[in-house]
Amino acid sequence: MCGIVGYIGYREAYPIVIKGLERLEYRGYDSAGVALYDGEEVHICKTKGKVSDLKEKVEGAVAITGALGLGHTRWATHGVPNDVNSHPHQSNSGDIVIIHNGIIENYASIKQELTKRGYVFHSDTDTEVLANLIEEVMKIEGVKLGKAVQIALKEVVGAYAIAVFDKKKPDEIVVARLGSPLAIGIGKDEYFIGSDASPFIEYTSNAIYLEDEEMAIIRIGREVRVRSINDDEQIDINIQNLKISLEQIEKKGYDHFMLKEIYEQPSAILDTFRGRLLPNEGIIKMSGIEDNLSKFTGANRIIVIACGTSWHAGLVAEYLFEDIARIPVEVEYASEFRYRNPVIKRDDVVIAISQSGETADTLAAIKLAKSMGAFVFGVCNVVGSSIARETNAGAYTHAGPEIGVASTKAFTTQITVLTLIALRLANAKGTLSTSDYKKCLFDLEAIPKRVDEVLEVNNQIIEIANNYSNVSNCLYLGRKYNFPVALEGALKLKEISYIHAEGYPAAEMKHGPIALIDEQMPVVVIATKKGNYEKIVSNIQEIKSRNGRIIAIVTQGDTMIKEMADFAVEIPETSEFLTPLVATIPLQLLSYHIAVMRGCNVDQPRNLAKSVTVE
Ligand code: G6P
Repeated sequence: MCGIVGYIGYREAYPIVIKGLERLEYRGYDSAGVALYDGEEVHICKTKGKVSDLKEKVEGAVAITGALGLGHTRWATHGVPNDVNSHPHQSNSGDIVIIHNGIIENYASIKQELTKRGYVFHSDTDTEVLANLIEEVMKIEGVKLGKAVQIALKEVVGAYAIAVFDKKKPDEIVVARLGSPLAIGIGKDEYFIGSDASPFIEYTSNAIYLEDEEMAIIRIGREVRVRSINDDEQIDINIQNLKISLEQIEKKGYDHFMLKEIYEQPSAILDTFRGRLLPNEGIIKMSGIEDNLSKFTGANRIIVIACGTSWHAGLVAEYLFEDIARIPVEVEYASEFRYRNPVIKRDDVVIAISQSGETADTLAAIKLAKSMGAFVFGVCNVVGSSIARETNAGAYTHAGPEIGVASTKAFTTQITVLTLIALRLANAKGTLSTSDYKKCLFDLEAIPKRVDEVLEVNNQIIEIANNYSNVSNCLYLGRKYNFPVALEGALKLKEISYIHAEGYPAAEMKHGPIALIDEQMPVVVIATKKGNYEKIVSNIQEIKSRNGRIIAIVTQGDTMIKEMADFAVEIPETSEFLTPLVATIPLQLLSYHIAVMRGCNVDQPRNLAKSVTVE
């Protein structure tokens, strides 16, 4: 949930660290800080607020130089966001400097013990406790930093990615990970640290991704040494060649990452099925599925586990797998699944969906399902992420880095992968005729073009947003495949514009939400031609007769609903099972423009984080 950055080498550390923090700000943005060692002293500057506030504070103060630096951008877990609770933290002597992403669950008992031994604490954080624990271990055991970190971490219960240095030995940074990601960039005579590789991609494309329960000693003039925290074994280092480019993570002229990512969807969807979808041959090629085909075709049921927007993609999967491949599906919030003693059988297949591949609840639910004998298949965007590694097999989405906190292209590419899987299974099980199957493949192949076309509604959406940017509530309705779209549309609006919004199956409106409808209440109805059209027309009439205002998403050429609605957004026609890929786009744009008009911080909405690595 926090972002950590570090540098040790021969360049000025500050510009690298601060740029890295800007790139990691999607992980948390309630406070930020840097620590720099100038050859004599450690200078720490931290502040409540964003990285831009930190920059102002640092750059307004005495210039700090030094080739060793750590930086942190925080999403608070222990202690309110304020200057003191911000990272980096120091031990009582000031020698040990640490940044931390995660939670130390037993910090209170360690703090009590250290207090008895005379330590004083200035912040409310668990991280300051860890800094002092490391200092105490060094003192009592007479060991150097690396060993002290290892001993301290063995006492700790919780999750962490940490980077720490000792002012008395400034040629070295020690890092460790359990449950939170950590990457080490390997340069020539220099090393970089990041929660992901984005802080250092312009400097090196070689990186080591630490595994859980591993630590590394990064020392200038020597190869990185990785060892296991618990059994002290040296581990062979695995240097990976990074595939992401700087261009991919920059805004490319768009005002916000979210808008850029909305517009990237045609190419992201294409990248996701490229080489996998071969309509002319009538083939879907996905090695993760082929290698485990009998597990899927013989599955008693599929259980989907995910959180947030990924859970909505899971709901689309429920319709897809049941409709096309005739496999029963249950969709679970990972956080509920893991704590409710679920019944899992050996012939259950679990699909875990996660953009980041780091969501703590999803990861824990995967571990639980595996321990109960289920085969777990991952659908992740971030290559090499914890979930990608923890699952038995999987398929990546190829959305590219998603920086905007509100998920857009990750959602449509997740649906793309799930559609490919559903179609492959339908083909293997013979639940679709050969001609229907082939038609589906061609229809999917045409989706990037359809998404390109639907993006042309942007100006109309701006006009609609102008009319509704001041509302307090909004209802989203859809049926069948469009029900998850309604949920996702509502989530987007509340996430970034702070307007209360609810998604509902259209027919359920009569069982509650209809009571809310009056002339102040906009109702977004996804009313495409296929999928219970007549029924949804009746629902629209019910809203009209209660003076509700209707924004309808309709199929191109629709006349009936256009007459009833206050605004009708036409989207291109496609097969019913592919509608979510097209119908979602205007809803993303609507929430985006409303949020901009309300002056909200679109890419960094309050209280949210891109990657939720705490329960
Ligand atoms: C956070 C993000 C959402 C995301 C959810 C699940 O809440 O803000 O955009 O959908 O986590 O994340 P995941 O990385 O597992 O898809």
